[in-house]
Amino acid sequence: MTNLIHRPRRLRRLAAVRSLVREVRLSRDDFVLPLFVCAGKGVRREVSSMPGVFNLSVDEVTREASSAFDKGVRSVILFGLPEAKDEVATGAYAEDGVVQQAIRAIRTAVPDLVVIADTCLCEYTSHGHCGVVRGSEVLNDESLELIAKTALSQAEAGADIVGPSAMMDGQVAAIRETLDASGFEHIAIMAYAVKYASAFYGPFREAADSAPAFGDRRAYQMDPPNAREAMREAELDYSEGADILMVKPASVYLDILRMVRDRFDVPVAAYHVSGEYALIKAAAQKGWIDEERAMLETLTSIKRAGADIILTYYAREAIEAITRLGSV
Ligand code: PBG
Repeated sequence: MTNLIHRPRRLRRLAAVRSLVREVRLSRDDFVLPLFVCAGKGVRREVSSMPGVFNLSVDEVTREASSAFDKGVRSVILFGLPEAKDEVATGAYAEDGVVQQAIRAIRTAVPDLVVIADTCLCEYTSHGHCGVVRGSEVLNDESLELIAKTALSQAEAGADIVGPSAMMDGQVAAIRETLDASGFEHIAIMAYAVKYASAFYGPFREAADSAPAFGDRRAYQMDPPNAREAMREAELDYSEGADILMVKPASVYLDILRMVRDRFDVPVAAYHVSGEYALIKAAAQKGWIDEERAMLETLTSIKRAGADIILTYYAREAIEAITRLGSV
């Protein structure tokens, strides 16, 4: 009778056998490290809700990008904290904006690093919304021109990929058109296609000083319960010419990630966002969780669900662990 028992445990007895039959493996090439560029010189200010994450001036962010590259990081995504904010987000598309300066400096210092620029207005507007505001409305079509202008200035500075994250309808098409018209048809668009109005962005808004001054982002970011609508958003960005589709947040939207992976034959990215990072950090600091194991399990789940690319504040630590452990 006993020989009829199926024994999956046979392949779990030894570490080497477990590794032999492992279905998903993290690799250093999976990760994109987010970096926050601020004004000034010699500035290195830790974000209190994100231990290990800093606001860095252009000189410091260049050094950080270079040391991350030495540790195996192959891509970064840049966010900016401008010196001044206004109603029309001038800092987002200024030729000497903090992100534009950082792109140029990193390009020169670390030529083989992939530089992605987050393309949004919220860090640069006085009201903290991702578009142009009239009364209490965030206007869609009026915002497209500024978003496209921002992407163009990032491409001019030398970004390899632009990442529109404002959730304005038609933003991918507007950027594609503008880039193509200016000779930047070779610059790729990583669209934040499925971006939910999430509580997990809390720490980022401290890091990027981008909390909306009134209201919230529910009139443009997606309603968390909706999955069919997510497919529609992904389809729209795909048809507007997105080269990479992103789902955000990641670990609480694994179902959506799987659906996007199954339906679209372009690379899929997942953003393991600030709040997802902060949860693991905080529990680890209290001694309630094994940080490295929780991190690797979370990132592996995101990859298993279908992500080809993972944006995470843990990029360095994950690469360090993969290198030390051999395989995870
Ligand atoms: C800009 C943007 C946000 C994030 C990425 N791009 C903030 C927001 O939408 O409020 C969040 C990233 C994170 O939480 O790590 N629109």
